[in-house]
Amino acid sequence: MNPINHVAIIMDGNGRWGLKHKKSRNAGHKAGLNTVEKIIKETIKQKIKFLTLYAFSTENWKRPKREINYLFNLLENFLINKIEELNKQNIKLKIIGIKKFTKKLNKLLIHSEKKTFKNKRLQINLALNYGSKYELVNAFRCLSKNKEKINENSISKYLLTNDTPDPDLLIRTGNTKRLSNFLLWQLAYSEIFFERKLWPDFNDKDYNKIIKKFKNTKRNFGKI
Ligand code: FPP
Repeated sequence: MNPINHVAIIMDGNGRWGLKHKKSRNAGHKAGLNTVEKIIKETIKQKIKFLTLYAFSTENWKRPKREINYLFNLLENFLINKIEELNKQNIKLKIIGIKKFTKKLNKLLIHSEKKTFKNKRLQINLALNYGSKYELVNAFRCLSKNKEKINENSISKYLLTNDTPDPDLLIRTGNTKRLSNFLLWQLAYSEIFFERKLWPDFNDKDYNKIIKKFKNTKRNFGKI
C-alpha cells in the first residue's frame, strides 16, 4: 500500500453549486467552506501530514469585484473564528502565494502563520493569490541573483513549498480536467484524481474512496 503524506486539492465547483441551489455563486463559496472544514477533519483522522488547498489563484482577480470581496471576507472570518481551534488541534497554517492583500488580511495572515508555526500534526498550505508559473519564474530569478547552480534541488529550494514534500495525490472536484496553474513542478509524479462532484457536495466518504484507490495504485515513478 502506498504511504500518503501530502494531498493537494483544487476545490472547484463552488460557483456552479451556488447558482444551482441558491441562485448565487457566493452561496457556493460559503457552502464550500463547510467542505474545507470536513476535509481538514478527515485529513487529520487519516494521519496525513500535509494538505494543500487552492483557494485563490493569480488569475482569480479577473472575477467580479463582488465575488472577490466575498471570498476574502469569508477567509477573514474563517481565520478570526477558527485559528484558535486550528492551533489547539496542533495544525500549522502556511500561506503560499503572493502576499499582497488588504492591510487587515495581511495582518491576519501573518498572525495566523506565526501563531501556528510550531504545530506538527498537520500542515495546511493555503494557496492564496497563487500561480505556479509565477512561483517558478521567481525561483529562477532567485537562483540567477544568487548565482546558484540550476538543478532540481536548487529549484525546489526556492519554491513556496520548500518545506513540504511533493503531493502524493491531487484531487480536483467539479468535473473539470485541468491543472489551472497549480503546483506544476511539484505534481510531476503525483497521482491525479478528477472528481465529478462539485466541491460543496464533496464529503469525507468521497475523500476516503479516493484515498483508498490511491493506496492501492501501483506507482512506478518511471520504472516498470
Ligand atoms: C473554485 O470554484 C473555488 C474558488 C476559486 C474558491 C475556493 C474557496 C473556498 C472553497 C471557500 C473559501 C475557503 C477558505 C479557506 C476561506 P469556482 O468558483 O471556480 O466554481 P465554478 O467552476 O463552478 O465557477
